[in-house]
Amino acid sequence: MGLAPGPALTAHELYRFYHTGDEETAALRGVSLSVHRGEMVAVVGPSGSGKSTLMACLAGLDEPDGGHVVVAGARLTRRPESHRATLRARHIGVLLQSGNLIEHLTVAGNIALAQSLAGPREGSHQAAPAELLAGVGLTGRAGARPSTLSGGEAARAGLAVALANDPEILLADEPTAEVDGANEQRVLELLRHRVEAGRAVLVATHSTRVAAGSDRVVRIVDGRIADA
Ligand SMILES: Nc1ncnc2c1ncn2[C@@H]1O[C@H](COP(=O)(O)OP(=O)(O)OP(=O)(O)O)[C@@H](O)[C@H]1O
Ligand SMILES: [Mg+2]
Repeated sequence: MGLAPGPALTAHELYRFYHTGDEETAALRGVSLSVHRGEMVAVVGPSGSGKSTLMACLAGLDEPDGGHVVVAGARLTRRPESHRATLRARHIGVLLQSGNLIEHLTVAGNIALAQSLAGPREGSHQAAPAELLAGVGLTGRAGARPSTLSGGEAARAGLAVALANDPEILLADEPTAEVDGANEQRVLELLRHRVEAGRAVLVATHSTRVAAGSDRVVRIVDGRIADA
């Protein structure tokens, strides 16, 4: 699989509006950004500023109302879901803010499912579940059900699933939200290691440590990029 030239991921002028009754929330108002291979970018900003909305649009799990996303040289936005799913499976690992694990499967089962859905991939390394779990500090929890994990453990298990196919681009929404200091450091080192291996990482975070460990910080306020 050859790598497309240019950034791994680009957002062009993304807009996203939510409507509840008569209320309109402009969650994204013209957000543009790029993430290159070998780069870790942190998206920071107050609660409700649009970080998760942005991550979902970048992953093609949500459709922006305006603008578009380009992944590895291919437009992801306004494509049929099957096309988006293929692009996602080939290029992107996604950690959402919650709901990353399938409840009736064990942690290792969740990883194995992600790997079998993607299939063997040329040029990327599908690590064994035990290796992925060791990387996020969850050795010994392979057989656990998601409902028996703490919030921070579930976030780290979700990260192991997101990394199961060694994605070119990792989109991680609050990977260290409920994680203690030692595990936050471990997650940060794991992300840095991926960047050193030439992968692109975009992380939405409230953690000053994760932001400080990134190559670049993008600050969002009220759905717009603000000065960092
Ligand atoms: N499904 C939805 N329906 C209506 N409004 C929504 C929906 N999802 C998000 N919003 C609104 O859009 C805005 C952006 O929300 P978003 O979840 O992207 O913020 P965030 O920056 O991720 O916040 P946090 O730091 O708390 O995770 C908020 O005002 C939120 O209330
Ligand atoms: Mg969020």
